[in-house]
Amino acid sequence: MGTLRAWRGVVALVALAGGTALAASPEPPAGASSCSGCHAASARVDTTVPRLAGRSAADIVAQMQAFKTGQKQSTVMDRIAKGFTDAEVQAIADWYAQRK
Ligand code: HEC
Repeated sequence: MGTLRAWRGVVALVALAGGTALAASPEPPAGASSCSGCHAASARVDTTVPRLAGRSAADIVAQMQAFKTGQKQSTVMDRIAKGFTDAEVQAIADWYAQRK
């Protein structure tokens, strides 16, 4: 019965690994992919576009609000920000804040 015990161990390990992978990379919310083409989903990636990954969600939401109202100058973000509801922006901001 040694084989059965070994298999139980493998199954437990796979379940554990699967759970960890899910926790590390939650599904991006709707609309996030339209941001991550310019703003990398990882803070480890260096781009000329301002980094969002790992920043506080409240900060990202505030910046998006400022783009929408025209309070903050931009080349592209004013138009992009207008295409997203407050709830969508909040979900995307939460997702970026969790990125490492
Ligand atoms: C076409 C590329 C592009 C896309 C797509 C894009 N951004 Fe941006 N984003 C920029 C650029 C460039 C800036 C700098 C301001 C400007 O020139 O508009 C910026 C700035 C920002 C800033 C301000 C950061 C800072 O420190 O000033 C936030 C917040 C932001 N974007 C959020 C988002 C979110 C959320 C999305 C998706 C809904 C998104 N962006 C989609 C290019 C993009």
